[in-house]
Amino acid sequence: MPNWKSLRNLDFPITKKHVYLDHAAGGVIARPVFLAAAKFWNETYQEGDFRWSAWLRRKEEARSAVARFINAEPEEVAFTPNTSEGMNLVADLFEGEGEVLASEMEFPASTVPWLHRKMPLRFLKASANQTLPSDFLRAIRSKTKIIVSSYVQYASGFRQDLAGLSKIARQNSCRFVVNASQALGAFPIDVKAMGIDALAANSYKWMLAGYGCGIVYVRKEILRAVPPRFAGWRSVNNPERYDNRRADIKSEASRYEYGGPAFANFFALQAACEYMTSIGKEAITRRILYLTDYLIGKLKKSAIPVLSPLEPSMRSGIVIAQVPNPGAAARRLFRGGIFVTPRGGGIRIAPHFYNNEKELDKFIQVLSSK
Ligand SMILES: Cc1ncc(COP(=O)(O)O)c(C=O)c1O
Repeated sequence: MPNWKSLRNLDFPITKKHVYLDHAAGGVIARPVFLAAAKFWNETYQEGDFRWSAWLRRKEEARSAVARFINAEPEEVAFTPNTSEGMNLVADLFEGEGEVLASEMEFPASTVPWLHRKMPLRFLKASANQTLPSDFLRAIRSKTKIIVSSYVQYASGFRQDLAGLSKIARQNSCRFVVNASQALGAFPIDVKAMGIDALAANSYKWMLAGYGCGIVYVRKEILRAVPPRFAGWRSVNNPERYDNRRADIKSEASRYEYGGPAFANFFALQAACEYMTSIGKEAITRRILYLTDYLIGKLKKSAIPVLSPLEPSMRSGIVIAQVPNPGAAARRLFRGGIFVTPRGGGIRIAPHFYNNEKELDKFIQVLSSK
């Protein structure tokens, strides 16, 4: 079992000052992430572009690390600035194919790219903060061609059964698109085993890798079949040839990295993948579920209703505690040095593996004080 206490003390200096329970908004960065990004900035600070070739090689190592992290192939993964860009690339791939079906609980990053392209998007009603694969199955009709789902919903904490939903998508000849922003880094993702056609996520929440980076995964058969809408000098097979007469576009996902690379962000994400893999992805999930269990127990004892689904298979890193005035409660908590966000009709608490029981006790204590 990982030594959570020593990881906390070594890699998360924020714990000396604050109680940080807001990973569903923006996570802190872990020390190895900070060091990886700082190393890059120091290199360019000291030496300009001297290491350009080495950085390009390191970028491909970073891609491989990300691909391993989600069980994709490197050619199926591109770096993006955030989830929204990834979702737009995916919407371009499937534009005009037919109706999109999505839960009404989706974060706008999952829906706006389709709406912007005037694609028909039908919202599935949630019941008790849940939209189950069986609900999708009932809603699918012949014109439904794309199913979009977050792995974890941002304002309810509902965790989708991705394998179950992908099976339904496949049986009904629908594309299966996943927004993994509220899960990547907290719940293991296996794009192959889960039957995912395309996935987008960012690095600044549960990945503990900071702002500026995201990933998009597209199954290679789809990549090969559909050319990208946008292309730049680095989208081609031999960018260092500087051929300005031909657009010899790559078939790999890296064609979406159009121009000068955001190296620091890629190296930060690589460090996060390697750090979490060394701790153990499953161990991280168990720890998050242990902490949220602990919290739910304390909320129940204090007679504070929990709005997020409590079934083990639907639980995530997000717990929504129903309180009368969530905005005022969040401000009171903030003044007490505790970071959370008002969301989903209550306070959203989103602890990561380095948090501990004492911090959750303090949260309950400040929340209950008037
Ligand atoms: C499910 C989900 N997707 C996406 C985002 C953010 O999108 P982006 O990475 O483009 O900033 C959030 C942020 O709260 C989210 O909860």
